[in-house]
Amino acid sequence: MIEKVVAGILIVNLLGFIFLWNRNQNLLYAIFAVSLLALFGFTVVKEFTAEWRGYQSTYIHMQLEKEKDPEVLKVIESTPIRIYQIWNAELGVTDRCITCHLAVDNPSFKDAPEPFRYHSAAREHEFAKVGCTICHQGQGRATETEHAHAREKDGTPIEHWDFPMWPLNMVQVSCPKCHIQLYEKDYNLKGAEMMTTARDVTLGKNDMGIECTVCHTIKGVGEVLAPDLTEYGDKTEHEFEQSHVMKYVQGKKNMYEWTYQHFIDPPKITPGDPAIHMEPTIMPVFGFTPEQSHALTAYMFSLRVNNTPVKYVYAPLPPKQKVAAARVSFIVDYEKQFANFDQLPPGQQLFIRANCWFCHSINGMGGKIGKDLTHVGQKMDKKALEALFATPGKIPRHQLGTKLSFTPEQTDEISAYLASLK
Ligand code: HEC
Ligand code: HEC
Ligand code: HEC
Ligand code: HEC
Ligand code: HEC
Repeated sequence: MIEKVVAGILIVNLLGFIFLWNRNQNLLYAIFAVSLLALFGFTVVKEFTAEWRGYQSTYIHMQLEKEKDPEVLKVIESTPIRIYQIWNAELGVTDRCITCHLAVDNPSFKDAPEPFRYHSAAREHEFAKVGCTICHQGQGRATETEHAHAREKDGTPIEHWDFPMWPLNMVQVSCPKCHIQLYEKDYNLKGAEMMTTARDVTLGKNDMGIECTVCHTIKGVGEVLAPDLTEYGDKTEHEFEQSHVMKYVQGKKNMYEWTYQHFIDPPKITPGDPAIHMEPTIMPVFGFTPEQSHALTAYMFSLRVNNTPVKYVYAPLPPKQKVAAARVSFIVDYEKQFANFDQLPPGQQLFIRANCWFCHSINGMGGKIGKDLTHVGQKMDKKALEALFATPGKIPRHQLGTKLSFTPEQTDEISAYLASLK
């Protein structure tokens, strides 16, 4: 609306210039002066009636209604109305989304209407560091809803912005940017189930007998009968439309619909074209449901060159603790090798728990620093073993393992176990 008024003013000025220059310059200057004032006025009005200001005052009112503590009330009342921004050069993030989405980290707004709702992913992710567009895409700098989301009200992407905000059912596309483990076979992550289902389909881990990599290469795995899909998601809408035939796509003709409908029925979307010697596709109709096709489409979109700096990549624990944890989990895994760990003889349980297997192996499991103990019972009887553990200093390496100072009961148990290994 304001844009139209401004355009109108400019046109009046131009016409005035053409028609009044030689006739009535005083009137012309008057028009210029008034227009200048009006334009200035409009910018001020536009600034002070900005959409986000409204959301901020509403948010303040909503908070005041919930709060009782007079001290806190005072703080809330004095909240300045201003633009908020999350900036992170390393991630290329300049996001002003929180200028409107003010309650993303305020748990008392769990059921509030948008844009005031508490965010479901707030506990696992530090928004102040990673921003919003890292997961949602969109135009971080913009401060009007349609521009920020880079979508019109009906969902159509706006022009000149290559990565419009994902619809909510596509946000998972961004998880593997940091959770790179999602491309590995057995890793699962809460909230990224769509990604892992689709991954399992592509890698043949499904009960449908499907394996995409018999034809396609994905991240270095697979064959070359069909296009390499490793960077499928890097194409912009424009690039995609340049390189794909869109005419067989029903409804909206865009990258999502092409990919989705191609999963439902590949030969329908790529039937070939004798005029340009293009063969019909050999990609079979797998009979995917709409949900599966959607999940696969999202997964394809996630296949991009990853440029997330290492320090933002998800690693279950920071590096220092990781070493310790790796040992612990190794032990846990070792315990898991025995489905019936609890029913093992107490001496054998101790052998596992006391890390003896770091250095010794029994029946092929364990380290090689110490002797293989598979048949130690042939060489040493229970007495000899007890003597060995009573004076750990006998074997210098054993002094390293503080756990070798067993109680008499434990000495008895572990000696009995080892003596039984004949
Ligand atoms: C000018 C205020 C404003 C800004 C800036 C803004 N939003 Fe929104 N957002 C809204 C409003 C209002 C809604 C609810 C109505 C709607 O969906 O259009 C909303 C809804 C959403 C939704 C839910 C959409 C859905 O499909 O239900 C998401 C996700 C979202 N915004 C993300 C973002 C991200 C990411 C940014 C920054 C790039 C952003 N918003 C910037 C006002 C804003
Ligand atoms: C780690 C990824 C991630 C980040 C970072 C992130 N979001 Fe989201 N967001 C999601 C996911 C996933 C959903 C969809 C949840 C669902 O399916 O209900 C979502 C949903 C939303 C919604 C819809 C309401 C809801 O909670 O379901 C809004 C609005 C929203 N996000 C805004 C933001 C804003 C603003 C920021 C930045 C402060 C942000 N998000 C940062 C992943 C993220
Ligand atoms: C900017 C990088 C980034 C993106 C994008 C991201 N995550 Fe994370 N996520 C992390 C990091 C880092 C942690 C570990 C946080 C911690 O331990 O403090 C984490 C932790 C989690 C956790 C907690 C579980 C655990 O094992 O610690 C869940 C669940 C999770 N993310 C889900 C998601 C989902 C779902 C998405 C996509 C919508 C997503 N993440 C996108 C970086 C990211
Ligand atoms: C029998 C071989 C074969 C199998 C199996 C197969 N495809 Fe294809 N696929 C093709 C061929 C050939 C093309 C190129 C022609 C076309 O677009 O249909 C193709 C095209 C594609 C495209 C479009 C690529 C582009 O850049 O235009 C995607 C995406 C795709 N396949 C994904 C998959 C997925 C995911 C699976 C497993 C569920 C799969 N394909 C299984 C042969 C196969
Ligand atoms: C840091 C490595 C290390 C750890 C941990 C370790 N050992 Fe040893 N162990 C050795 C070395 C080295 C020897 C002496 C040289 C050899 O036998 O190879 C030895 C010798 C032995 C012997 C004598 C074997 C023989 O044939 O002479 C027994 C029995 C034994 N260890 C049992 C244990 C038990 C039980 C534990 C766990 C409580 C354990 N060890 C933990 C390194 C280790």
